Amino acid sequence: MENYQATIDQIISFLTQYRFLIDSQLTATFIPDYFSEIPEEWINYLLSFDYHQLIQLPKILDQITLPSLHRFISDIISLSPNYPHYSDQFETSKFECYFMNPKKVHECKKLARFIFEKSINLGLDRIIDIGAGQGYLSHLLVTKGNLKVTAIEAKDHNSHQSEKRGKFIRRKMKKEEADYNTISLFVTPDNLINYTQDPCILTGLHTCGDLSATCIKAFLSDTNIKGMINVGCCYEHITEYINPCAQELVEKYLEHIGKSYTGRNLDESLNKSDEKAGFPLSNYIKITYPCFFLGRIAKKLAMSEVSLIENPEKTFKQLDFRAAFQVLLGEAYPEKSNVFCIGQGVKKYTDFRDFVSKSFLKIGLENPYRDDNLNEMYEIRFRDQEKKAAIIWSLRSLMGGLIENLILLDRAKYLSENSVNTEIFSIFDKTLSPRNLALYSWKN
Ligand SMILES: C[S@@+](CC[C@H](N)C(=O)[O-])C[C@H]1O[C@@H](n2cnc3c(N)ncnc32)[C@H](O)[C@@H]1O
Repeated sequence: MENYQATIDQIISFLTQYRFLIDSQLTATFIPDYFSEIPEEWINYLLSFDYHQLIQLPKILDQITLPSLHRFISDIISLSPNYPHYSDQFETSKFECYFMNPKKVHECKKLARFIFEKSINLGLDRIIDIGAGQGYLSHLLVTKGNLKVTAIEAKDHNSHQSEKRGKFIRRKMKKEEADYNTISLFVTPDNLINYTQDPCILTGLHTCGDLSATCIKAFLSDTNIKGMINVGCCYEHITEYINPCAQELVEKYLEHIGKSYTGRNLDESLNKSDEKAGFPLSNYIKITYPCFFLGRIAKKLAMSEVSLIENPEKTFKQLDFRAAFQVLLGEAYPEKSNVFCIGQGVKKYTDFRDFVSKSFLKIGLENPYRDDNLNEMYEIRFRDQEKKAAIIWSLRSLMGGLIENLILLDRAKYLSENSVNTEIFSIFDKTLSPRNLALYSWKN
């Protein structure tokens, strides 16, 4: 059984070394010295790369001739998810894909086939699909896999829609009989007992935040659940247990990442009790790295897919106004310079003056730059820093893969500590569905 320790060790060591890059606020890119820990030679070297190259640095590694930067990127590549690809999928009729967008169709065709294969290996035909949403996966498991499915979903509306879809599909496919149930229930690690009276497999497609950990705990504690197939998502909603020895570090981190304009703490995901938290799950991380935590910014970074941006020049441009506003805010109101979050709305403005005036209005502060020529000021003070900002954003985004891998490996390690077999697969095409890692676990 793989023990995952070596990779966990390397990732935590790397993340600790580059913590300054992870815990940085992108809105602070134009603040002098904020990113001074990034080697200046990396920034100067990358200035000659265009935006498309910047967002694809791992793909153009052989063009990077600066040794320290080359090592940084190749270390990242070696620690990012790289798991066997699952290539099969079910072919589906248009009725089975009713109401599904192309991304969902891709996910469900592949995952349903994967679950079907594993159900044969395990000799089981009963599936409990957790966080089933509107039942896109669940219904395919019935129509394509001939499996008996209980779809459990917290939101009544989704369960209702799932029922309706099921009736529609069965009518159109003239398949009157199906062993399919929809249950409205907010799942916890120990409230599935009524649905697991027979041996079964627990599945979940994009079980957001802590729901993956909930599924893992339910799987481990219930002897009738023989196998589990789980694809997680929304890592920023994962709650974390903070060991008392890390309290001081957490306080420094919270101070560094600042506040929202309403004074709200920007990370409320920390300090869950040990039993309830979604990270870390493994004793290995808890005991070997008691002071290590991810934090919401890191967990959000694990979801960022800068390499998939179609028009990086345009996307980065939208962030430049926000970064420039951050400088003006701190200069006009030094006591607000730790306000790093003013909400959405950047995309709408093509004029910096408008952007500044709307931003001050939104956060309820008088605009002291009302009479200044802000567009000219932007050209003079910020325009020539735009490329540097794109470099910083691109370098930082590279860390996302490591963080996602660590979250997965912590889950896999926890499962192996509990003596069950685990494999990780890359199940979807990442360009279509970026949260594409499936954890497959089974009991002997
Ligand atoms: C990202 S959606 C995925 C839905 C579906 N599996 C799909 O791929 O279309 C996650 C779903 O999990 C549900 N959910 C979240 N926490 C839950 C819990 N503790 N128990 C049951 N459902 C939950 C949400 O309501 C949501 O519908």
